[in-house]
Amino acid sequence: MAFEKFDLTGKTALITGAAGLLGMEHSAALLESGATVVMTDISETTLDTAHSQLVQHCNPARIRTQVMDVSQPQVIRTVAETLWAAGLRIDILVNNAAIDPKVKGDHGVLETSRLENFPLDQWNLQVAVGLTGAFLCSQVFGTAMAKDGNGGVILNIASDLSVISPDQRLYRKEGLHEDLQPVKPVTYSVIKAGLVGLTRYLSTYWADKGVRCNALSPGGVFNGQGEAFVKRLSSLIPLGRMAQKDEYRAAVQFLCSDASGYMNGQNILMDGGRSVW
Ligand SMILES: NC(=O)c1ccc[n+]([C@@H]2O[C@H](COP(=O)([O-])OP(=O)(O)OC[C@H]3O[C@@H](n4cnc5c(N)ncnc54)[C@H](O)[C@@H]3O)[C@@H](O)[C@H]2O)c1
Repeated sequence: MAFEKFDLTGKTALITGAAGLLGMEHSAALLESGATVVMTDISETTLDTAHSQLVQHCNPARIRTQVMDVSQPQVIRTVAETLWAAGLRIDILVNNAAIDPKVKGDHGVLETSRLENFPLDQWNLQVAVGLTGAFLCSQVFGTAMAKDGNGGVILNIASDLSVISPDQRLYRKEGLHEDLQPVKPVTYSVIKAGLVGLTRYLSTYWADKGVRCNALSPGGVFNGQGEAFVKRLSSLIPLGRMAQKDEYRAAVQFLCSDASGYMNGQNILMDGGRSVW
């Protein structure tokens, strides 16, 4: 059958940052493919809201929520042990959690998004979640996948900014002095490029144990951003528009299933063509 290899019945997927905009989409995609999904995030409240939306469309036994801060190694280990004790083997790990502060402009005397002023504590926090978090989760869940001989899949959610630099003209605010213009922070580029490096490393590290690792690099998702921003960004995209949030579902289903069984170590750009222009 044509779509047999997409079937994830009997598999369990753990998604980090699962209560966010795309985390919910990844969760819905994998539920649609038949997997049991463990939605993890830092806040119980947002997880409860996400759960109540997704549970309407599937067997409640196939969704589980779990508070898990990906920057805390001990917390990840405790969550893993709880899941294993409940008889769940994590077959698929989606490293999706990130801190992506909206680029607004401080309108003060110092624009902290700019490289010259970017606070070290913000660098440390964002790297801890977006990059170190992916390493820590892969260390715990990937090691377990490799150990028992049944293999698995790790999917890192990167960004089109893993391969291109942010176009800072997108974030410009009329009337602000050059030094006060907000920018996409340096952390975003570093984290996303780092995730591609992690992807390549992991893809070979456990390849002989049947653990594959790929990255998905989405382009900007429309989520009510201002008209001027949307117009400027759309003009940089050959398809002429931002993505809808559900447009990555099929790619997640492909990359997490046997349908992509011979794909390993790749960074799949799904950006309306922005990075080829
Ligand atoms: N939305 C886009 O346009 C877009 C484009 C390209 C890439 N991405 C990437 O997709 C992923 C999801 O983005 P999104 O738009 O859904 O963002 P989002 O902010 O809606 O979701 C991120 C989630 O991560 C969670 N999180 C933050 N700190 C955490 C921590 N310490 N531990 C665990 N979870 C934590 C947040 O609570 C949130 O639910 C990110 O990696 C992002 O960089 C998004």
